[in-house]
Amino acid sequence: MRKKMIAGNWKMNYTLSQTEEFLLEIKDRISVDDVDVVICPSFVSLYLASNILDGTNIHLGAQNVFYEEKGAYTGEVSAPMLVSAFVDYCIVGHSERRTMFNETNEVVNKKIKILLENTIKPILCVGESLEERESKKLFDIISNQLNESLKDIDEKNVADNIIIAYEPIWAIGTGKTATLEQAEEMCKFIRDQIEKKYSKKVAQSVRILYGGSVNTKNASEIINSDNIDGALVGGASLKNDFVSIVNC
Ligand code: 13P
Repeated sequence: MRKKMIAGNWKMNYTLSQTEEFLLEIKDRISVDDVDVVICPSFVSLYLASNILDGTNIHLGAQNVFYEEKGAYTGEVSAPMLVSAFVDYCIVGHSERRTMFNETNEVVNKKIKILLENTIKPILCVGESLEERESKKLFDIISNQLNESLKDIDEKNVADNIIIAYEPIWAIGTGKTATLEQAEEMCKFIRDQIEKKYSKKVAQSVRILYGGSVNTKNASEIINSDNIDGALVGGASLKNDFVSIVNC
């Protein structure tokens, strides 16, 4: 039985004082046992958030990492730095990073490797643009993102430590959620690809989330679909709505 996960990707929102105020307001209401709840604030807010969340069941996630351990990489943040801020999860390959910061599958693969070496669980995002969905190449694109991002990653890590998030780009921040059929179809396709690449056992263990305009109205049916193990929530994770989404 896969444990459900609800992760909040705050993106570039909330200063330190806003982080403190919001987390103090919601933390007791989202600290639950039966769902893994992950909050992903900005790098600046991570350590403060780890102090506020200390003693709760809520996990801390980062939104990005650099793939080298340390050195002359001005402006970058390493996996050991994330560990020192008590980070358990890290988003990689988000479409905003792929499109605005040229993050390729090869870079995503390196980031996954450095995270695993540092015992941080990667949340690997995959997804297609509207043009790609409308083309006949939709499934090839997702399968290529998976294959290249997971290159040389062993099956134990995929089964136990990697979370995959299917986020159709056209549904992010647009209020245009994928239909339940579209989300379930792609999450099942992803699970089938994992079975092909690894084994049935790994495919049954890996958690696959849906992300893209998840809100209090659509969360319940999405999260409870057969092949969807939870949600990666953007805009709604910055509001009290996040509490309702965790509780549904
Ligand atoms: P929205 O929920 O705001 O559409 O964002 C989804 C997302 O990008 C989560 O990573």
